[in-house]
Amino acid sequence: MFNIIHRPDWFIPERQVTPETAFLNRRYFLKQMGMAGAGLLSMPLISCSKQTTNETTVTVAAQDSKPAASIASAGNYPYPRNPEFNPGWPLTNEKVAGTYNNFYEFSTTKDRVHQLVDKFVTAPWPVEIGGLVEKPMTLDVQELIATMPMEERVYRFRCVEAWAMIVPWTGFPLSKLIEKVSPKPEAKFVRWQTFNRPEQAPGWARLVQQGYPLPYTEGLRLDEAMNPLTLVVTGIYGKPLPKQHGAPIRIIVPWKYGYKSIKSVVKIEFVTPQPATLWETLAPKEYPFESNVNPAVPHPRWSQATERMIDSGDRVKTQPYSGYGSYVAKLYAK
Ligand code: MTE
Repeated sequence: MFNIIHRPDWFIPERQVTPETAFLNRRYFLKQMGMAGAGLLSMPLISCSKQTTNETTVTVAAQDSKPAASIASAGNYPYPRNPEFNPGWPLTNEKVAGTYNNFYEFSTTKDRVHQLVDKFVTAPWPVEIGGLVEKPMTLDVQELIATMPMEERVYRFRCVEAWAMIVPWTGFPLSKLIEKVSPKPEAKFVRWQTFNRPEQAPGWARLVQQGYPLPYTEGLRLDEAMNPLTLVVTGIYGKPLPKQHGAPIRIIVPWKYGYKSIKSVVKIEFVTPQPATLWETLAPKEYPFESNVNPAVPHPRWSQATERMIDSGDRVKTQPYSGYGSYVAKLYAK
C-alpha cells in the first residue's frame, strides 16, 4: 500500500516571513482555561518564546562539541532508512535538536534539559503492554529492538509552539507491536505513561507543586495508533535516543502537535473510554485530545499558520496534518 514515494505538500519550502501573531494576554487565556485564581497561575504552560535561557545560548550550545547526554540502549545503529520517508530535505542540525527540548520532568527551559538528565537511569527499561489485549506482555527495550522491524524515517516534527524540525528517527511502526498483543474488540484507545521516578528528574517536584498530573500520559485512538505513520522510536540521527529526546523509547506521531509524542514510555495500555492525558487535563481548549496540526486553527498564544525551523530560523507555511494528509486525512473524514 505504501510502496509509492509520496511528496508531501510541504516539499517546496515557502520562505515566508510573516510574523507570528502570538497571543500574549496571559490573563485572557487563563480565564479561557478556567484557571485564573487557581494555583495554576504560575504554571509554565507549553511556551516557546521565553523558554531558552536565551536564543544565543542555544546557538552556542549547538556549536559546542559537548556530546549529547549519555546513551542508554545498544542496537545495530544505524538502521536502513525507509525510502518512502527519505524526502531529501536538509536535516535539522543534530546538536540544535538535542539542546532545544521539551521534557518538563527535567526542566521547562529548553536548553537546560540536556544538562539535567545525568541521574536519569534508562537501562534496563521494561515496557508493560496490557489492558484490553489477548496477550499482555512486558518486554525490555533491548528485546523490542532485537525483535521488531527496525528502520529509519525522516519526519517533520511540529510543536504547538510553532517551531518545527526535520529529523531521522529510528524505530518501528507501533502497529507491529499492537498486532503482537492482539487487542480485544472493546479496545478503542491506547494510553501511554512516562516513567515515574521523581528522584531522577530535577523538574518533577516543581511541576507537582504547580498542579501537573504527573506522570505524563498521552493517548491515541486505536485507528490512529494503527496508522503506518505512528512510530515507536528508540533512536535519532542513526544512534540510540539521547536522554533529552526521550530515551530509551518514545512515541512519534508526526501529524499531531509534539506534545502527543510522549517520551520515555514505561506503559502502553489498551482501554475503552478516551483516556485522560496530561495536557488535555490541564487545558482542554488549548490541548485537546485530537491535536492534529492545523494551520487554520490558531492556538490562543500562537498562530499556527506558519512555523519556525529551529536551526535556520526560516519561517515556512504550516501544512494541514504537517503535510501527512495523504496518510491520515481519511481518519477524520466526517
Ligand atoms: N514527554 C514527556 N514525558 N514530557 C514532556 O515534557 N514534551 C512533549 C513531547 N513529549 C514532553 C514529552 C513536547 S511539548 C514536545 S514538543 C516534544 O516531546 C519534544 O520532543 P523533543 O525534545 O525530542 O524535540
